[in-house]
Amino acid sequence: MLQELMTVVDQKQLAPKIFEMRLTGELVNEMQVPGQFLHILVPQSDLLLRRPISIAEIIPEKKECSIIYRIEGAGTETMSHLKTGDLLDVMGPLGNGFPLESVQKGQTAFVIGGGIGVPPLYELSKQLVKKGVKVELIFGFATKDVIFYEKEFSELGEVHLATDDGSKGQHGHVGHLLDTLQGKPDVVYACGSRGLLMAVENRYENQNAFLSLEARMACGMGACYACVCPKKSDSTGQTSYKVCDEGPVFKVGEVVL
Ligand code: FES
Repeated sequence: MLQELMTVVDQKQLAPKIFEMRLTGELVNEMQVPGQFLHILVPQSDLLLRRPISIAEIIPEKKECSIIYRIEGAGTETMSHLKTGDLLDVMGPLGNGFPLESVQKGQTAFVIGGGIGVPPLYELSKQLVKKGVKVELIFGFATKDVIFYEKEFSELGEVHLATDDGSKGQHGHVGHLLDTLQGKPDVVYACGSRGLLMAVENRYENQNAFLSLEARMACGMGACYACVCPKKSDSTGQTSYKVCDEGPVFKVGEVVL
């Protein structure tokens, strides 16, 4: 983990309140594992806490990476106004990321995401395809207007969509969509809301499945305990994992969702 003032290469809006930012810097040399995140200090003096934002794509040959984020408050609003050439204080890459060694060439991966949980699955899917793994991309969004990267994902595998309001794809949440799919995956990777992760856990319990958790964070490096979640094996709830440090990716059944 390192810290650097990275340079904004460009920024564009993908959907209402959803932005893609490309950054360049030496830190990209440290980024290899999909599912890790950056801890970003927004350039605004009254905002002291960093924001954890997952890495959507790593482009080592250009020394660039991208993040995709949604405006949730003052910090991300400020970020959305940054322009080419602006500097951003970035710490990272943080977290464990998705284990690629859990699947072999020729096998099939279900890559499941919802809303702003989808971005880290892009780099994951790219690396899986590069390894020779077939990816089925199963995503849920609130409505068709907030879908992003459909074309980019469709170049990697078949995209299955669900929307809460039925405006595109299957009407309902990702769990409904999973119930319609044929075939059994060799591995499952998921990132999204607690509800989505529970839907995945219910269907792939005791299987080769990995869940990336969202959590409120402060330090981002295991020092403050702001991001703990209980271990499933401990019925007292006394023993917990730190999502920033020991996660954000856990094997299904390891944590209480
Ligand atoms: Fe401080 Fe995880 S955010 S321990």
